[in-house]
Amino acid sequence: MIKPSIYVTAFCGLGLATIVLLCVYDMIPMNPLKIGRRLKLIMPDRQHQRSQTTVPDKRVMAKLEVYFDKQNIRNIQKITKRYFDPKKDVIYFSDFKIFMQKCDHLKFTLRKSKKTCNVVRTPIKHYRTCAVVGNGGILLHSGCGAEIDAHEFVIRCNLPPVHKYRRDVGSRTNLTIVNGKRLKQISDVLQSGDFKRQKSALAELGETPGMILGHSIQDPDNIREIQVIDTAIKENKMSTITAFPSNSFKENKGLYLDLIGRMARGNFASTGLNTFALASTFCDKISMYGFYPMSTYRGKPVPYHYYDKRTHSESHDLIEENELFKRLDDQKVIRHVVGKCKDAPTIQSALEGAWMKLQKLGELVI
Ligand SMILES: *[C@@H]1O[C@H](CO)[C@@H](O)[C@H](O)[C@H]1NC(C)=O
Repeated sequence: MIKPSIYVTAFCGLGLATIVLLCVYDMIPMNPLKIGRRLKLIMPDRQHQRSQTTVPDKRVMAKLEVYFDKQNIRNIQKITKRYFDPKKDVIYFSDFKIFMQKCDHLKFTLRKSKKTCNVVRTPIKHYRTCAVVGNGGILLHSGCGAEIDAHEFVIRCNLPPVHKYRRDVGSRTNLTIVNGKRLKQISDVLQSGDFKRQKSALAELGETPGMILGHSIQDPDNIREIQVIDTAIKENKMSTITAFPSNSFKENKGLYLDLIGRMARGNFASTGLNTFALASTFCDKISMYGFYPMSTYRGKPVPYHYYDKRTHSESHDLIEENELFKRLDDQKVIRHVVGKCKDAPTIQSALEGAWMKLQKLGELVI
């Protein structure tokens, strides 16, 4: 006969083992396998990446590029380069560990010396033309898709849907700047265990390939969320690169003041203004689309986003930022595109017409 004390010992032993196991499991929240196993069966919807219905046209861009004023651009870059540098603001997420080990993240120096943190790399190069595309409802029915896609480098915000709206917003994406809220939303779904929702989250990631940059990393949760997204991307063999900034964009206090001439109420620039400032440090010529904070345009209502029914909350700071974009457009520092993109097709057909005439002339000569 087995003594009751053996039951007690066995029971306690089992309980203890469970507790130890649970603790160990909890101690490794960054273990990629944990997420990886759960997502392995999911394949991303690659259709979005393949179907490119808007045709980028170099001739359109050649015409639009004439617009800019090099000296005025340089003057603005002098300001924005005080706040942004791709070497420290867009770092490969695969370099995160070495960055934490070797670098002081506030000063961006090596821990052991005062030298700049040179052990991390950036996927960003220098680009001649960039489109910075906001998510404003002003893009609906704009027909700007082909013009946006004609840029060398296309930057978007917060992983928006593009496929369904490609005529208006284009289908190419090279960099997506993502805020903390959106990072959490995507990573929560990827970890939810709900196959259908996981699949649609992966499809959302697949719609805007290129690089994903989480811009608010002061919260350790954000790093964990980028890790979750990075793992899902790798498990599903997607080509998207993940990246992080050495310091959260919000810490760039003073950018708003330096560009606009007074402090913002919240003390920091919006994602849109930060994205423009970052882009201006590695792009020669920037066109901005989808940045329009007012609820009407030429007497017609403008939705807040081009892709949902969210209502407007006109922010004073955003209206000031919009005034800045208008001013920069006047100074030919950027092209601030509001309303329809009629120009592109007109220029295109004009050029085509000229080309046909030349061909005819050629025929005549021969
Ligand atoms: C930008 O992204 C498109 C696809 O969305 C790609 O074809 C192109 O090569 C990328 N450009 C650069 C400069 O990385």
